[in-house]
Amino acid sequence: MRTVKIMALAGLVGLSSVAQADTSMLETATQKGCFICHSVQAKTGPAIPLAPAYADIAERFKNQKDAASYLSQRILKGTVDTPQDWEGKVNMRFMPPNVNVSAEEASKLAEWVLSIKKDAISEEVITHEGMMTLAAQNGCIACHGISKQADSHYVPLAPPFHEVAARYKDNPDAKKTLVESIIQGTVDKEKKWPDVNMRFMPPNPSLKQEDVDKLVEWILTL
Ligand code: HEC
Ligand code: HEC
Repeated sequence: MRTVKIMALAGLVGLSSVAQADTSMLETATQKGCFICHSVQAKTGPAIPLAPAYADIAERFKNQKDAASYLSQRILKGTVDTPQDWEGKVNMRFMPPNVNVSAEEASKLAEWVLSIKKDAISEEVITHEGMMTLAAQNGCIACHGISKQADSHYVPLAPPFHEVAARYKDNPDAKKTLVESIIQGTVDKEKKWPDVNMRFMPPNPSLKQEDVDKLVEWILTL
């Protein structure tokens, strides 16, 4: 735990703007459901993935001039009626249109996908990807964001995970307290987060203990 924290801190201090953009784009990609089918790096093993890994897409399109606009159209419209670019390499026949993505978001996502280097992405980003997938699968992302929205008028449903980390950083009981809040919910408890739109967090009784521990450790490194 201690080493994890120190590494995360070292990572934060040395974080370039690119890596920071990575984290915010990871958040967008998570919220838009891209990781239901895609991963950032190809997974090892014999299984054919549902959809191409982003690093493989970047590799394939790296010399194509109009790649960013081509891919942003693919993201927006999906690939249903058009030639299959990844035939035989992925398990799904096509990508459905991503109707929840705006044109501006699609072009940012396309540029981000194109910026991903094969196997060169930091451990930190891979951990983020895995943990955000876990948080998305368990519904946490429905209420929680990772960082505060730039728009200060926006009141979030639930505290962004960055703020949870900041509030608990010097609290020796942080892990125990947060694990308990997540499993039991905060229905009967005193409200701890006044600046959020929901009165309480419902209990998450079906979460595996192991996953709660991992989620809390990750949240505390943010
Ligand atoms: C339901 C599964 C699914 C979801 C959700 C999904 N994709 Fe895809 N995506 C695919 C598949 C399958 C392909 C490969 C299509 C092909 O072979 O032409 C693909 C291809 C792509 C490509 C490459 C297109 C090409 O022509 O090579 C990009 C870029 C991409 N997806 C980005 C995204 C982004 C960003 C999101 C989230 C906003 C997203 N995808 C959501 C399944 C999905
Ligand atoms: C239905 C909305 C909702 C969902 C789903 C949800 N939360 Fe929460 N969460 C909240 C709210 C609201 C609070 C603030 C409660 C308060 O003010 O005391 C909160 C608080 C927290 C806190 C801080 C607790 C504390 O004691 O300070 C953590 C950590 C947290 N949530 C993690 C998670 C994780 C991990 C998941 C997914 C397994 C999750 N939440 C799912 C709404 C939600």
